[in-house]
Amino acid sequence: MPPTYDRVTRSLHWLVAALVILQFATGWAWGYFERGTDGRFYLFRTHIYAGYAILGLALLRIYWRLTHRAPPLPNGMSRLTAVLAHTTHGLLYLAILVQPLLGSLTITAFGKSLGRWPGQTHVALAYGIFALVALHVAAALWHQFVRRDGLIHRMLPARQG
Ligand code: HEM
Ligand code: HEM
Repeated sequence: MPPTYDRVTRSLHWLVAALVILQFATGWAWGYFERGTDGRFYLFRTHIYAGYAILGLALLRIYWRLTHRAPPLPNGMSRLTAVLAHTTHGLLYLAILVQPLLGSLTITAFGKSLGRWPGQTHVALAYGIFALVALHVAAALWHQFVRRDGLIHRMLPARQG
């Protein structure tokens, strides 16, 4: 059987992926609700708790990644695409660490004394992360439907290993 990511890596990947999608949904939705409404309040609360969950899971994930071997990239990938894949993955790890920290700085007293830059950076970085995730998903689709190399099974929960 071709090499796959271990069970913990796969579970963490999809859990964090779902939470990141929730962050975009909540972060971009609460603006449509009037200030002081319940909807806005719950979306904001969800954003904050899910964001802290991402931070905790990111720390666990990075620890796990550094102490466990990842399967090598599939054969036949050019140097350029290999570098692109590693860079994208590295930046995604960085994103799930830095973005919650910036979010926390935005809402805490300590952050307030820093001025507006944590919030502004958090908002700007959200677009960068969105682009990165889009690239990442496009790459997964390209592997699945153009190269047809079954790469997605390395990360899918259904496989044993
Ligand atoms: C929802 C759509 C997503 C799909 C279809 C997807 C698919 C995949 C696949 C197939 C791999 C394995 C690549 C390989 O075998 O080399 C992978 C790895 C990875 N994914 Fe995703 N992913 C998604 C969302 C995300 C999100 C939102 C994040 C944000 C943190 C993310 C972060 C990562 C990272 C960091 C790796 C590299 C794992 C490692 O080698 O350490 N993914 N993804
Ligand atoms: C990976 C985790 C996170 C992602 C992907 C994320 C994403 C986003 C997005 C998309 C927005 C809306 C940006 C816009 O207005 O266009 C936003 C706003 C915001 N997020 Fe997050 N967020 C994350 C974690 C957190 C955490 C942990 C907190 C707080 C503890 C937080 C607090 C905020 C605040 C206060 C805003 C409003 C910022 C402003 O308008 O000045 N976020 N976030």
